[in-house]
Amino acid sequence: MSATGKKLLITRQTLAPVLDALRASFDVTEGDGALDAAAAARALETYDAIIPTIGDDFSAQVFEMAGTIRCGVLSNYGVGYSHIDDAAAKAHGLVVSNTPDVLTDATADIGMTLLLATARRAGEGERMVRSGAWSGFGPKGLLGTHVTGKTLGIVGMGRIGQAVARRGHYGFSMPVIYYNRSRKDAGLPARQVESLAELMSEADFVVVTVPGGRETTGLIDRAALAAMKPSGIFINIARGEVVDETALIDALEAGAIKGAGLDVYVNEPDVPARLTALDNCVLLPHLGSATFETRVAMGMVAVRNVRAWAEGRPLPQGV
Ligand code: DGY
Repeated sequence: MSATGKKLLITRQTLAPVLDALRASFDVTEGDGALDAAAAARALETYDAIIPTIGDDFSAQVFEMAGTIRCGVLSNYGVGYSHIDDAAAKAHGLVVSNTPDVLTDATADIGMTLLLATARRAGEGERMVRSGAWSGFGPKGLLGTHVTGKTLGIVGMGRIGQAVARRGHYGFSMPVIYYNRSRKDAGLPARQVESLAELMSEADFVVVTVPGGRETTGLIDRAALAAMKPSGIFINIARGEVVDETALIDALEAGAIKGAGLDVYVNEPDVPARLTALDNCVLLPHLGSATFETRVAMGMVAVRNVRAWAEGRPLPQGV
């Protein structure tokens, strides 16, 4: 038996250092797939502690569906926790935490990866080489969009937005504008704009980094996309539901915007066939935090949170 004797479910297979640290304190069950509502309700009845992640359904109805709830903590493996209704969890006596900070750089890097890959048509080029369709260098071959000096517009200026701003400004001499509820440019070469419409229409590259959840669902709607320049490139490293996905696909199909780079989708892991059919977008499988170092660091934050709960201490990253 583990040190605490408490039963813990981590809903996905995880990395050895994280698993070892968990096993020192808990009786660990490793899951291997997303929990739907029924499975999540059963987990709440069965385990003392749960480490969930995106794709697990801990919406408000799940706490109502569960019988007697045994679980006292949801220590989310990730910074975004829009799959957890934290108000409902707290109303049922649970504490909730996440893993901010440690994934900021990795996620900002994926934002820049998508920005560059979309601007420079790297996905198309890669497919061309692999398929044997490349016929050699030519002055007109796969011409992309210049990045250096273009205006970078950031929607949501939290930690990740700020890290993208620094990369754009210092790495690519980009003037940076941002849209955020509060002013967040202390020490940063960035200018706040008044409205989302202003940001969408001024930026050459729009990068969305807002947290998901009720407050930001549908923030980038059809009208916001329509305000973009025809040469504009749209990048989403936040959550799929922040964007009207159908409106985005319509804009890409119509050539109303130049391209999109996406790491997140409304119904992950399902990606609309209309999107995968398009050449003017680069599509990644939610890789924002996917470096070995970052995923271990996230796991260790989740471990520290759940241990604090087991020892009756405040959670270091409680939400
Ligand atoms: C995060 O940490 O929010 C990542 O997107 C994985 O969920």
